[in-house]
Amino acid sequence: NFTPNAFVEEIITEMKEKIGNDKVVLGLSGGVDSTVAAVLLNKAIGKNLYCIFVNNGLLRKNEFQNVLNQYEGMGLNVKGVDASQRFYDALAGITDPELKRKAIGNAFIEVFDDESHRIEDVKWLAQGTIYPDVIESVSVKGPSATIKSHHNVGGLPDFMKLKIVEPLRMLFKDEVRRVGATLGIDPELLGRHPFPGPGLSIRILGDITLEKVRILQEVDAVFIDGLKSWGLYDKVWQAGAILLPVNSVGVMGDERTYEKVVALRAVESTDGMTADWVRLPYDFLMKVSNDIINKVKGVNRVVYDISSKPPATIEWE
Ligand code: XMP
Repeated sequence: NFTPNAFVEEIITEMKEKIGNDKVVLGLSGGVDSTVAAVLLNKAIGKNLYCIFVNNGLLRKNEFQNVLNQYEGMGLNVKGVDASQRFYDALAGITDPELKRKAIGNAFIEVFDDESHRIEDVKWLAQGTIYPDVIESVSVKGPSATIKSHHNVGGLPDFMKLKIVEPLRMLFKDEVRRVGATLGIDPELLGRHPFPGPGLSIRILGDITLEKVRILQEVDAVFIDGLKSWGLYDKVWQAGAILLPVNSVGVMGDERTYEKVVALRAVESTDGMTADWVRLPYDFLMKVSNDIINKVKGVNRVVYDISSKPPATIEWE
């Protein structure tokens, strides 16, 4: 029987003993796990925890600034690093999904390495690894690990030579959320949908351009805000939009249009290994489709993805 309060007390004592007066660096992603890990370590070692939050230019609309403000409001010692251009440069011209993941993984390691070298005498790397991540990396790899390379799990490059500390490695996701609630973390942050490390790059099929990122950020924001205002967000495990590499013909007033198609995806799942598409209400789909086409310049058609995993995956790339 898991009791979050007891866990918090024990792990703080353990971290204090283990880390002493050393400095620790931690990469925040905006997600639940890294945030809970940071708040726990902040309680244990305070300003010796150096958090780095990287903007890869592929986050949701306004996400970088909003989440950074939230982190600062939580009293974390956090540095926001806007490396968007570095990621766009690394991605330029790449269309293959695995090459996109590799380019992003490498750019992230470079940025993170640069930043951690600025912290004098840092000894530890903290990670928000949770129990399912541990299992997936030591036992038979799950489908998503072997079919798609996940770049934020596991590997630390040798040259970083840091000792690893993982305060959540014995916890399941729901336990992490309960620990987060005990620590007073904003319920909205704790209830966030999962979001892939490579961000919107794997939801823009084909090559990545600034204009495509802008379009997809707008579409995604209309969809996610819509789910929230209709009270559907918490009923869905994960949702997002995909920008397809095709144009379709439409009509606006008396004019012919020839613009982009976007797909909406919303799934139910418990662990992401299998998933079913959510039967979103037709009225909601109608409203959100109209809103997207009216508000987002460059899109004239919206489709809804009704594939389950397997045989489809949650992300399109
Ligand atoms: P798939 O597309 O494999 O996704 O069905 C399963 C879950 O994993 C997320 N995902 C990723 N997460 N790095 C991540 O951190 C990745 O490279 C990655 N690829 C997929 C996906 O959003 C879903 O929650």
